[in-house]
Amino acid sequence: MENIVFYFSGTGNSLKVAKTLAKALGNCEIVSMAKAEKISLTKPCDTVGFVYPVYYWGLPKTVVEFVKNTNFNNTAAYYYSIATYGGIVGNAIRQLNELLNEHGITLNYGEKIRMVGNYIIGYDIFVNINKCLKQADKKLFSIIVNIKNRKIKTIKKPYKIIERNYKEAMQKISLLVKEYTVNENCVGCGICKEVCPAKNIEIINKRPVFKDNCEQCVACIQWCPKKAINYKDKTQKRKRYVHPEVSYKELSEYNNK
Ligand SMILES: Cc1cc2nc3c(=O)[nH]c(=O)nc-3n(C[C@H](O)[C@H](O)[C@H](O)COP(=O)(O)O)c2cc1C
Ligand code: SF4
Ligand code: SF4
Repeated sequence: MENIVFYFSGTGNSLKVAKTLAKALGNCEIVSMAKAEKISLTKPCDTVGFVYPVYYWGLPKTVVEFVKNTNFNNTAAYYYSIATYGGIVGNAIRQLNELLNEHGITLNYGEKIRMVGNYIIGYDIFVNINKCLKQADKKLFSIIVNIKNRKIKTIKKPYKIIERNYKEAMQKISLLVKEYTVNENCVGCGICKEVCPAKNIEIINKRPVFKDNCEQCVACIQWCPKKAINYKDKTQKRKRYVHPEVSYKELSEYNNK
């Protein structure tokens, strides 16, 4: 039987996890949740996985919309979820479980992997990258063993107080891009457009122009080789981070498969 893993990723952490999982499980398709089309999961699958970053203690908008719009015919599969995060997971896994419940599905297993926090708009990198990613690899290895053994873990209800904060933050999310600037270092290479999972960037006269569908994934800021994209005056001096085992070409290829 086949396996499928759905992923969403801005800076590669979640894609790295999805790739490693797919390789370990074998016969596993990797599918981007950022694809606009509605999906109908008709083929018989042994395992169905979701890998994504935590946004404001919950799920990215794309993940919410994807799960709402997908037709999960295969309710008998083993469903699992892995949230990658920088500090606090909050409701992310619990929220996914609730969304799946609406399709008559219960998550069989949910885990979190602490990776490098990429939210450059809010903070500079605060961990030792190598050490953090080594620990993340170790955790992923143990999660893969659990998934192979079809471990069951009961997922609890979302925390109400976190739910309110999440909703407020997510309402503001697409507006922040209005404060993005592009400085004179831009060489018009188009990498920002290629990595944007929301197809929110056009290159016009060799400069990125942002539209109104920003997911706030910060991929454009993080992947720009010239550090030309910034948020207000907050990010100019902050270090850029992308997962060292994922290239922008690979991310873009997976997103557009
Ligand atoms: C908009 C936004 C909000 C975030 N909120 C949280 C959060 O609430 N808790 C947390 O631990 N990490 C948070 N992060 C950090 C990411 O979850 C983390 O770096 C993740 O591994 C990035 O995955 P990716 O490289 O696949 O995009 C946030 C990142 C972004 C861009
Ligand atoms: S990635 Fe950076 S340098 Fe390349 S077009 Fe975008 S802003 Fe300009
Ligand atoms: S415009 Fe930038 S921050 Fe917004 S979705 Fe695209 S890559 Fe992410």
